Amino acid sequence: MSSPFVTLTADEAAALIQNGQTLGVSGFTPAGAAKVVPKALAVRARAEHEAGRPFKVAIVSGASTGDSLDGELARADAISWRTPYQSNKSLRESINAGRTRFFDMHLSHLPQQVRSGFLGDIDWTIVEACDVSPSGEITLTTSVGASPTFLRCAKKIIIELNRFHSPNLRGFHDIYEPQDPPYRQPIPILRPSDRIGTPTVKVDPSKIVGIVEGNQPDENAGFEPADETTERIGNNVAEFIAGELQAGRIPKEFLPIQSGVGNIANAVLGSLGSHPGIPPFEMYSEVIQDSVIKLIRSGKLKFATGTSLTIAKDVLLKFYEDLEFFRSRVLLRPQEITNNPEIVRRLGIITINTAIEVDIFGNINSTHIMGSNLMNGIGGSGDFTRNAHISIFTCPSSAKGGKISTIVPLVSHMDHSEHSVQVVVTEKGVADLRGKTPNERARLIIEKCAHPQFHQLLMHYYEMSKQGQTPQTLSRAFAFHEQFLRTGDMRQTPLG
Ligand code: COA
Repeated sequence: MSSPFVTLTADEAAALIQNGQTLGVSGFTPAGAAKVVPKALAVRARAEHEAGRPFKVAIVSGASTGDSLDGELARADAISWRTPYQSNKSLRESINAGRTRFFDMHLSHLPQQVRSGFLGDIDWTIVEACDVSPSGEITLTTSVGASPTFLRCAKKIIIELNRFHSPNLRGFHDIYEPQDPPYRQPIPILRPSDRIGTPTVKVDPSKIVGIVEGNQPDENAGFEPADETTERIGNNVAEFIAGELQAGRIPKEFLPIQSGVGNIANAVLGSLGSHPGIPPFEMYSEVIQDSVIKLIRSGKLKFATGTSLTIAKDVLLKFYEDLEFFRSRVLLRPQEITNNPEIVRRLGIITINTAIEVDIFGNINSTHIMGSNLMNGIGGSGDFTRNAHISIFTCPSSAKGGKISTIVPLVSHMDHSEHSVQVVVTEKGVADLRGKTPNERARLIIEKCAHPQFHQLLMHYYEMSKQGQTPQTLSRAFAFHEQFLRTGDMRQTPLG
């Protein structure tokens, strides 16, 4: 049957979007992100600015996207506000310079807040798909994110039909949107591999304004190979989890793993895969990274479900070659389901996320550099951490060539509080904080996790503060950060 939909060029699609409108876009990481229309929109924004007219749009996505979207639009100064997450250098600069308003959200919260109207109307939804049926059944590509909600709530839809992706992805997605309160039912996932929804997103075809054809790979950056530090962090995590299994604090059936984003998370998964004390396992996670695919091929990982398949181009092409092998082993779901607190708690997930800095009491900063500048955002780390069976945070003990201690007296921004954080792991060791008081935690974190160059300073701070349930010297709590801002090096921090 021939398609009933109008074919548009990217420029024609971009010309339909007006200054001040809100766009819901596909993409969770660069995987499955809209690419060609946003790029054309950036060109349009520049032309409008040159003609002396204002042109900015609001962008709501699943999480981060690729450079063709966040990068191009930020460089064209065309994003008025942005949520719920980003990881693009140009957009980060625009946010930290105050040119783009950004609010950082728990990713599981986003779809319900869109449906409830907390973020206003979604004027346009632009999603990448590998297939669209004449009746409006859309097969998404390498991510689901919040696209089902954007598609249902949008006034108008533009589809980027990206021929780079396999046309046979139908069946890799499990689309399920819960009812909103007070009609919400229990979400019937009892095992990571349970399917509860449909393979496609069904929309009213009359909302589809046009289809833009393309052929572009996802713009994933790829990972740094594991170095000595990330390898040690990975081994420490794997040793800890294997020990918990042996001690019976993780049941012998084992529990699903969630692993965060970035280089450290990728390396940690590699270590879990090679540790002989960890049995073949399943993942109930957010982002499926390169190392996950390797573990599935090796048989160590039996099943992985997430909301995005964020893998390098060559890994994705091989995945497409072996699509039938992966069909029963990989499943993509909406972020509202992968990150859902009800399911994370029910399945008893072991969560492993990355910190920028950790304080001696176990509070975590995952999002801000020196308290003020946004790095990426909280992402799904809070969704998982707060509801985990065991919540683990990892980071190297120092950053920037040893000039920064990632273990500090008090975090300069707090994303996860001591109440949600159970285990801290650096390349130096593991601090198991369960059942420990703040005073005990402080000694443990300094002893097990801090870089030796900062032991003395941190102990000095702790000793001078030693009073109360959570000892703190308020006037010196940020001395490490102040010293870095003054001199570019925390090592000679004066504590008085
Ligand atoms: N102070 C200043 N800079 C620091 C720092 C600190 N305490 N700790 C790290 N950095 C810098 C690093 O030097 C590096 O800088 P560079 O890009 O200039 O080299 C950068 O921050 C990233 O650090 P890196 O060690 O490469 O970490 P990563 O790639 O593993 O990412 C996070 C770490 C925390 C930024 C990333 O995991 C994140 O955004 N997490 C929040 C969202 C999340 O957890 N999502 C998963 C939920 S499923």
